[in-house]
Amino acid sequence: MRVLAVTANKGGVGKSTLAFQVAAELARRGLRVLAVDADKQADLTRYARGPRLAGMGLDAVLADPPASLDPRPYIGSVSDNLDLLGSSPRLADADLVLQSAQGGPFLIQRCLAVVAGAYDWAVIDTGHSEPVIAAVLVAADQLLMPTTASSPDARHAGDMLQTAVRVREELGLETGDLLQRSLITIWRRQHNGVADAEVIENLQDRFGDLVCPVVIPHSSRISEANDQRLTVREHAEMFGTARDRPLRAAVDAYEAVTDHLLARAGVAAGDLSGLRLLEEIDLDEPDLARVASAIRRVKSRRGLDDDELAEVLGRSLDWVRHTLAFGARHPEGEDRLTIRPRSRVAVRELTGSRPPRWRP
Ligand SMILES: Nc1ncnc2c1ncn2[C@@H]1O[C@H](COP(=O)(O)OP(=O)(O)OP(=O)(O)O)[C@@H](O)[C@H]1O
Ligand SMILES: [Mg+2]
Repeated sequence: MRVLAVTANKGGVGKSTLAFQVAAELARRGLRVLAVDADKQADLTRYARGPRLAGMGLDAVLADPPASLDPRPYIGSVSDNLDLLGSSPRLADADLVLQSAQGGPFLIQRCLAVVAGAYDWAVIDTGHSEPVIAAVLVAADQLLMPTTASSPDARHAGDMLQTAVRVREELGLETGDLLQRSLITIWRRQHNGVADAEVIENLQDRFGDLVCPVVIPHSSRISEANDQRLTVREHAEMFGTARDRPLRAAVDAYEAVTDHLLARAGVAAGDLSGLRLLEEIDLDEPDLARVASAIRRVKSRRGLDDDELAEVLGRSLDWVRHTLAFGARHPEGEDRLTIRPRSRVAVRELTGSRPPRWRP
């Protein structure tokens, strides 16, 4: 399981929104995702339709360690492949626990280790509590650090990198990989603003390719989606029109940020453990067009060539070529396998994942 921490020193820069959208985008790719709310404001919990009640999430997990550290009783299902370990204002109590308990900074890491086999990704939203942030930075493999394109925020864009180095070095933990994999994302609030453009350029000068080239647009539809407790993609599918370009741009931006994140994570062709979709494709499914469509998607998503695909599937190269050729002649399988909320039934049929409902 990879642990992604969405974190920034500044408030209101889009952390919780980004955490929710990226978690949902990863899940849409067939990866099993646990969204973790490590903020006592519990915004991620709200966006993801969680309960926000005391004793139902990370606050309970950190209440009485080590006895309480198993998160499983508090994990609920949000949608296919996406679960949530939520939060509540009671998480404020965790500050003292993390500071005073033995191995405090490692407690979130220990909690996640319990479910590491059940997920490909944990996506953690952080708030502003120093002890919680420190424990998240210890658990993280990768940081996603949003900033707006206005100068007071942007000036602090790299702060979390410094904090991560300090926290991890104090504990004797390695830091290089974490820094390599991290990404700063920019939310451009003024569509045509010269000042925004200058700040973006300045960030790129300072941080080079740590800055995600995809800039997240400003769109009131993003707040609407949050208020409706929908992902931006779900919101677009339910309420968007073909001409709603800002909404389309927002959907595309979160998708593209997720692509960059995966590329940065170094999820390469060899690392297929997370691709449950692939593991669970029924290669003996009688409808070959469906199989072809599924493997074509996996192939392009992972940049595999036919040889690598054959090896992963345990089939001959001829079989792979024949199936892909068949799929190209009969593309009707495609629609039924598209991983979008609209075709949840087809996905559930294929992956056997749980229905989207709250569990505890
Ligand atoms: N790209 C965007 N365009 C327009 N509004 C946005 C965008 N991203 C986030 N918002 C809105 O901005 C507000 C703050 O976003 P969010 O809660 O994600 O920030 P945050 O960094 O998590 O804040 P906090 O520091 O309080 O945790 C929310 O109302 C959200 O709906
Ligand atoms: Mg937040």
